[in-house]
Amino acid sequence: ANALHVGIAGLGTVGASVVRVLATKAAELTRQCGQPIMVTAVSARDRSRDRGVDLGSAKWFEDPIELAKSADIDVFVELIGGDEGAARAAVTAALESGKHVVTANKALLAKHGVALAEIAEEKGVLLNYEAAVAGGIPVIKTMRESMAGNTVSRVFGILNGTCNYILTRMEAEGISFEECLKDAQRLGYAEADPTFDIEGNDTAHKLAILTSLAFGSRIAADEVYMEGISNITQADIRAAADLGYRIKLLGVAQQTDSGIEQRVHPTMVPTASVIAQVHGVTNAVAIETDILGELLLSGPGAGGNATASAVVGDIADIAKSQPGFQHGPVFGRPAKKLTPYKKAE
Ligand code: NDP
Ligand code: HSE
Repeated sequence: ANALHVGIAGLGTVGASVVRVLATKAAELTRQCGQPIMVTAVSARDRSRDRGVDLGSAKWFEDPIELAKSADIDVFVELIGGDEGAARAAVTAALESGKHVVTANKALLAKHGVALAEIAEEKGVLLNYEAAVAGGIPVIKTMRESMAGNTVSRVFGILNGTCNYILTRMEAEGISFEECLKDAQRLGYAEADPTFDIEGNDTAHKLAILTSLAFGSRIAADEVYMEGISNITQADIRAAADLGYRIKLLGVAQQTDSGIEQRVHPTMVPTASVIAQVHGVTNAVAIETDILGELLLSGPGAGGNATASAVVGDIADIAKSQPGFQHGPVFGRPAKKLTPYKKAE
């Protein structure tokens, strides 16, 4: 079978994890996608940096825009970050040259998503972005594909792993905001500029994308009311706990009589509620609709592996969209014989 050739721009927390997952899961992905997925080109700023992954024979590009346009690739994966500069220019170049694009960049999509989607539609290529909202939780696919016919009245949740990690540890361990933030950065959860996490911008970007999917509206990130967690103190957390509440940074979008309301702010949630039990880097998204009722998705919201899981899923979807791909049997492709289960004595 032909291979799907992938170019990856950005080899930081997420990019390096994607390279690792594509290598370690190569056989499984080939089985599922009907063809191998090969990383044939990469780009980052510092060529000499050890990223702890084997880049094999992938061609190195100093300029991600050249990589985006290169004939060496079928799919361009943007993991640089930022709403302008190299990320925007490279994604635009890739789409304009007829390449499918996968990105985890919610800041870019919140600002330029509509224009980029228009290029993708005009060129007949895919623009996949599952990792841009709530890390590894498959919320984009759920909303785009599995909820047809539902009318959404409200979508809300914990959409930033860094903030939830900070609030959880401040409450559980009594340690300072600054120390928790440093750990979130060390663990690869935070944005390159962590003010985006703690001041609520990152949650606002993700909420704006979810709002667009939920209500069929154009992305309008500048209309989101926004307040972050940088002023939350131990005293606030203890006062909330005394009253039977926990403080969570929530993003909420809902249909009201006067239009769609979008807001991000620290919220006191009852300690016994399900949303209050979402700890650490875990995210949760609640979707309320007329047919389904209430759906709650939760799972790892940031970090290399969680995000790579969603990015690799998006790449695999592109492989499965290629002409000639044959969907396998209903329950797997191809069906394998199970190893017989042995009951413990
Ligand atoms: P990092 O800062 O760890 O990595 C960014 C990478 O981009 C680095 O490898 C850097 O190169 C490279 N880079 C920067 N500028 C350029 C340029 N001009 N040309 C080529 N390469 C460049 O970021 P993350 O991996 O954490 O995040 C990547 C994207 O994924 C962002 O959009 C982020 O918002 C998103 N995301 C991140 C998640 C996470 O948990 N970390 C979760 C979900 C989404 P070098 O290494 O040489 O400096
Ligand atoms: N900085 C983001 C977070 C990464 O902490 O949630 C995942 O989008």
